[in-house]
Amino acid sequence: MAQVELNGVTKIYDKKVIINNVNLTVRDKEFLILVGSSGCGKSTILRMIAGLEDTTSGEIKIDGICVNNVHPKERDIAFVFQNYALYPHMSVYENMAFPLKMRKMKKSDIDQKVKEVALSLNLSELLQRKPKQLSGGQRQRVALGRAIVRNPKVFLMDEPLSNLDAKLRVQMRSEIKKLHEKLQTTFIYVTHDQTEALTMGDRIAIIDKGIIQQIDTPYNIYNNPVNTFVGGFLGSPSMNFIKVDINDDNIIKINDSPLKLNNNQLSILKGRKSVLAGIRAESMSDPNPNFEFTAQIDISEMLGNEQILYFKANNSNCSALIPPSFTFNKDFLFKINSEKILFFDVETGKRII
Ligand SMILES: Nc1ncnc2c1ncn2[C@@H]1O[C@H](COP(=O)(O)OP(=O)(O)OP(=O)(O)O)[C@@H](O)[C@H]1O
Ligand SMILES: [Mg+2]
Repeated sequence: MAQVELNGVTKIYDKKVIINNVNLTVRDKEFLILVGSSGCGKSTILRMIAGLEDTTSGEIKIDGICVNNVHPKERDIAFVFQNYALYPHMSVYENMAFPLKMRKMKKSDIDQKVKEVALSLNLSELLQRKPKQLSGGQRQRVALGRAIVRNPKVFLMDEPLSNLDAKLRVQMRSEIKKLHEKLQTTFIYVTHDQTEALTMGDRIAIIDKGIIQQIDTPYNIYNNPVNTFVGGFLGSPSMNFIKVDINDDNIIKINDSPLKLNNNQLSILKGRKSVLAGIRAESMSDPNPNFEFTAQIDISEMLGNEQILYFKANNSNCSALIPPSFTFNKDFLFKINSEKILFFDVETGKRII
């Protein structure tokens, strides 16, 4: 068992509230992804869980026991950082053996454990090398190995793949997923990377302004964002937010094309003068459209397997993902299925429908 709980956790640095009364339960064996803009406090949350940083107030529990006053060494947590932090003068073997030596484990047991973990991470051939004789991916595997040998209850990973090139990242992504399945422990994983966020975890927690905005499965985060921050955060290009007025005939217009709201939309949006229509970039040329509008294309980018078009809709900057074979001159006819439009409050950004 390794459930991690944050109860009303707040962190204040220099009178500035960084983490504001966060409640979060990471389930036993769960792979939880933590995302948010740079500086929003992701590393701070991991550091508080690990005990490297105090909480200003609130309680951190592991397996139901408050660990606020438990020393980091006693928390049974492994931390993998972005910049691996291997000991440069030690060999791969010594790097991985180090945490066990610190625990005064028997030499023969250390040897067995290091070799077993090295085998599982494909490091057996590299045990005598020094970190500088390794590639980035190999170094990162050693850092993982050093974390795994201790059999920790919880793994904290802070952007562990961000220093790797794109190809290696893809490979390590699946290796870390496999590792999670094999170890059957709780993982909390911080990332900036869209694909990592959407593909690796059981649930994603999105932080903004010191608050967890939404915690949910990747599918729900993507398809049912609770506000414009969440809607705009995941997805590339990000979701378009187009301000539309609702006129007396219950019609909204995008670039002068009218769309009659359906009964459900009408009953929920009743009384509102305007709303933000949220449309994903890939929903701009829907195969089953019931609504169309035209826009002048400012820039287009051909990416091989898809094209991105940049344009304005009701004066908002928008982007659309369309098939590479589609051609156009100046204007493009966007085809929308109105069922896929999400509606958000203009002022608060909160999701309405
Ligand atoms: N020791 C410190 N003293 C004062 N302020 C700090 C300290 N550590 C972090 N901060 C501030 O707290 C905020 C959150 O920092 P944190 O490192 O947790 O962000 P992050 O979400 O991990 O960002 P990134 O994605 O860039 O790694 C930042 O504004 C940072 O400047
Ligand atoms: Mg960070």
